[in-house]
Amino acid sequence: MDRSRELASETGRRIAVQVARYRPDRESEPTFQEYEIPLRKDWAVLDGLNHIKDELDGTLSYRWSCRMGICGSCGMTVNGEPKLACATFLTEYAPGPVRVEPLRNFPVVRDLVVDIGDFMQKLSVVQPWIIREDEEPPDGEYLQTPEELADYKQFSMCINCMLCYSACPIYGLNEHFLGPAAIALAQRYNLDSRDEGAADRMEALSSQTGVWDCTYVGECSVACPKGVDPAGAIQRYKLTAATETIKSFLMPRGRR
Ligand code: SF4
Ligand code: FES
Repeated sequence: MDRSRELASETGRRIAVQVARYRPDRESEPTFQEYEIPLRKDWAVLDGLNHIKDELDGTLSYRWSCRMGICGSCGMTVNGEPKLACATFLTEYAPGPVRVEPLRNFPVVRDLVVDIGDFMQKLSVVQPWIIREDEEPPDGEYLQTPEELADYKQFSMCINCMLCYSACPIYGLNEHFLGPAAIALAQRYNLDSRDEGAADRMEALSSQTGVWDCTYVGECSVACPKGVDPAGAIQRYKLTAATETIKSFLMPRGRR
């Protein structure tokens, strides 16, 4: 008995998976290829893809690494919604078929693999690291209270999975928009009591293509598998940017 039938016999059920295929060396545009695989209770979509790759079609390309919702590399569109393939169970889509496509709003490199170079460039613009004015570190640690940690902790949970960019209609229309995760990660550092770099990040964040392009659709926060709430981070920074602008107008001319 082949491995596929052996596994199927554990539940007796199978599910059709329609996978987007795009091999630029062979095809001018994406097509769908259907595979029938065992429907097991403990299989995520990623397990199904691994079964296809190992047992049915070794030419399929996709990214994954940790298999536990940490590395952020298995983002895909599953039945029209951005999902982590390792955290989305096949049984949710029974009796099928399940349609698996690359994340929307990114160029497709091959099959389910997308190019996230645009995000990487935007990430560097917001300087997502601790910036300090003092050149020498102190003796010992920078201490932080639990309340100070709580202020930014939610935004530090981001795993760069790009589900929020895929869900964002503004990013889909305007590639210049800084986007949800880059802004949430900027806020992760702006709100850290050890950081002194908020002024350095302000130009990128408070420009039109920063927070102001966001129309608060909120789909980024719905899609986020880690509860980061990038939409909340963006709205909170809008308040900061507006307050800073008002303060600068109230300042005597010579000190602006
Ligand atoms: S904010 Fe959420 S959805 Fe966006 S990249 Fe980070 S973890 Fe993924
Ligand atoms: S494989 Fe790492 S998040 Fe899914």
